[in-house]
Amino acid sequence: MHILITGGAGFIGSHVVRRFVNAYPGYRITNLDKLTYAGNLENLRDVEACDNYRFVRADITDGDAMLELFAAERFDGVIHLAAESHVDRSIANPIEFVMTNVVGTVNLLNAALSIWKEAKEGRLFYHVSTDEVYGSLFDEGLFTEATPYDPHSPYSASKASSDHFVRAWRDTYGLPVVISNCSNNYGACQFPEKLIPLFINNIRNSKPLPVYGRGENVRDWLWVEDHARAIDVIYHNGKHGETYNIGGHNEWRNIDLVRLLCSVMDEKLGRPAGGSEKLITYVTDRAGHDQRYAIDSSKLQRELGWIPSIRFEEGLRRTVDWYLENPGWLRSVTSGEYRTYYRRMYGG
Ligand code: NAD
Ligand code: TYD
Repeated sequence: MHILITGGAGFIGSHVVRRFVNAYPGYRITNLDKLTYAGNLENLRDVEACDNYRFVRADITDGDAMLELFAAERFDGVIHLAAESHVDRSIANPIEFVMTNVVGTVNLLNAALSIWKEAKEGRLFYHVSTDEVYGSLFDEGLFTEATPYDPHSPYSASKASSDHFVRAWRDTYGLPVVISNCSNNYGACQFPEKLIPLFINNIRNSKPLPVYGRGENVRDWLWVEDHARAIDVIYHNGKHGETYNIGGHNEWRNIDLVRLLCSVMDEKLGRPAGGSEKLITYVTDRAGHDQRYAIDSSKLQRELGWIPSIRFEEGLRRTVDWYLENPGWLRSVTSGEYRTYYRRMYGG
């Protein structure tokens, strides 16, 4: 079994690569990544010498390169995570999101079809997507697999579009596909542009914590290793052609999450209780900011027996510990381009 994992040097992809390399020594795992600002081979130091692992630097927007690679390697399966993934960057530069998330996905679908046309048995194109395609919830209720798509940001619109193309390849060409839509992830190796690692880094450096609007938006948080395990379960046991929602029934208002994070950081850094909360700064809201995301993952739980493994408070503590124990990782990813990005987003 030879599996191509795209975006394996990124946050979630690195956890998926590690899981597959360690759990399935009989598989060959090829990690394809362009190594954008978000891709970092440091995330995979512990598996890079494994016999069943190989890294290929390539860009999924290059259709010819994808066709050549698939023809040479004859992959049996694809787990597609490579994407531009940050909403704020999509607002500033939407075209890049269309190119990578839409055109890049179509290139991979084409390349998979080109080698699986005659023999689809045992093959699978697994597309990793997000709950943001469903839009925004305002009151009670959860996103199910049947919720109509209603994306609002260039990021979520590009992911929604890529999901539609995956289903089009299923329905038009009979490509064996599966899609999962997951809620917000957190854990080790997440780039410090997303809420939790950004705020951990800022608290470490006693910098302001820029809470958008009034901090009342709600997100449903899942530990990244639980997401990687869900992908494993769905890859091996999911029904081809289906969609699975992944989430932890773990909703937090941003401001409540930030306060919890501040108290964990105070304790871990030995600072007086309440110290970090003083860094909270309310700033102009994100344009088109979705109010609430919340996932109903009962299909995945019922049909495939997956449930989240740890409580949020425990996962958040482990995440904080990882960042405090890896200051070199944070230093390296926050040099260079990050400074320009930070200045443009938050000033200072
Ligand atoms: P990330 O930004 O940390 O990593 C993305 C990876 O893709 C990076 O390694 C980057 O180098 C690579 N990449 C980007 N453009 C590429 C290109 N043109 N060619 C090849 N590689 C390219 O993202 P993440 O948070 O790990 O998200 C991974 C996937 O999971 C994405 O598809 C995202 O939409 C989805 N997702 C993320 C979350 C979340 O909370 N982070 C939740 C649900 C779904
Ligand atoms: P983020 O981690 O960017 O994920 P997403 O937008 O994909 O849900 O943001 C999570 C929430 O935190 C979202 O409601 C926006 C908010 N947020 C802030 O308040 N300040 C920030 O600096 C960032 C990056 C996010």
